[in-house]
Amino acid sequence: MAVRLGFVGTGGIANRHLSCAHKHDEMEVVATCDVVIELAQAAAEKYEASGDAYGDVVEMLEGEELDAIVICTPPFAHGDIEEAAAERGVHFFVEKPVAISMEMAGRVLSAVRKHDIITQVGYMFRKSAPIIAAQQMLSERAVAMVQAHYYMPGLPNKGWWTKMELGGGQLVEQATHMLDLGRFLAGDVKSVMGKTSTVHDWEPPAGYEQPEKGLVAHKKGFEIPDTTALILEYESGAMGTLSCSLVPQVAWDNGFKVVAEGALLTIDGPNANWTTAEGETAEQAPDDWADAVLIEFVEAVQGKGEATIPYEEGVKSLAVSLAGYESVNRGNAAVEIAEILPAGI
Ligand SMILES: NC(=O)c1ccc[n+]([C@@H]2O[C@H](COP(=O)([O-])OP(=O)(O)OC[C@H]3O[C@@H](n4cnc5c(N)ncnc54)[C@H](O)[C@@H]3O)[C@@H](O)[C@H]2O)c1
Repeated sequence: MAVRLGFVGTGGIANRHLSCAHKHDEMEVVATCDVVIELAQAAAEKYEASGDAYGDVVEMLEGEELDAIVICTPPFAHGDIEEAAAERGVHFFVEKPVAISMEMAGRVLSAVRKHDIITQVGYMFRKSAPIIAAQQMLSERAVAMVQAHYYMPGLPNKGWWTKMELGGGQLVEQATHMLDLGRFLAGDVKSVMGKTSTVHDWEPPAGYEQPEKGLVAHKKGFEIPDTTALILEYESGAMGTLSCSLVPQVAWDNGFKVVAEGALLTIDGPNANWTTAEGETAEQAPDDWADAVLIEFVEAVQGKGEATIPYEEGVKSLAVSLAGYESVNRGNAAVEIAEILPAGI
């Protein structure tokens, strides 16, 4: 039987998941929900929802028979949505980052455990086949250095991105992909030191015209750091760095260099190549690689396997981002992850 899905937050990224659900027989797009009801209605029409469009998640959960919801709201708009689903025994897939704060994430984690629902976080790089192969290669070796970067050539034109209290800043909102993948490749992080800067003048100059689509080079009210550097210490003893910036330049670039005993690994987006004594390996992800994380969740709901990125993993990766900014607040002192995580994790 197809898994009956409701979609909450039908802005940008929801389209990836709606389009995946629309083309797979094992998923049924039942209902959509967005505080901007016109967006929910447009998504319901475009992806041929069998049920209704809603402006409120509780109304959707009460009004439809759903097996699971797919949550694609901005970082500040979490907590109540996940709790409402958990209380009704409705499983959820949630886009990263799982929350804006550890208080919010801890509250949801308690509800997930209490109601024993299936969860999955949208860290799709973990489900890319080349990265899984790279992780297996690393698992047989001692990892020394995990060097990560996330460079985005400008700012998504969304007001919430410009405020720490809404988007969380680039570390929480976006570089979390790399911090999570670092944990996947090298295990848990012990401590983080961070430093941030704002290099670019984001104030729109006279006559600046924002492009209709894509990233912008200027936006009023920009308050987050645009450039960040972290030093990470892993529990295993490995060291790591993370550099991220959204200063306008010309290309997207995210990935890793990983140094391990007898191996040098490069990850470029979803692709990976490495050199060992056995020779060189280069692996390319298929075009639809980013769908795998939702497909795995739906199969878990059908009882056909495990959702391998449960909510708790999202909480642990969020803690690494929050520790980075906390280190900045503490004058660049090292912050232990154990201080940040909710009790009992
Ligand atoms: N995995 C990825 O590659 C990836 C890519 C882009 C975005 N994301 C994540 O997805 C999330 C959303 O990003 P986006 O770019 O789609 O943002 P967006 O602003 O385009 O869309 C978010 C939508 O949520 C709606 N919304 C806000 N509060 C709501 C609520 N309480 N109930 C229902 N709807 C609500 C908004 O009206 C908006 O339409 C972010 O956390 C972002 O980090 C992940």
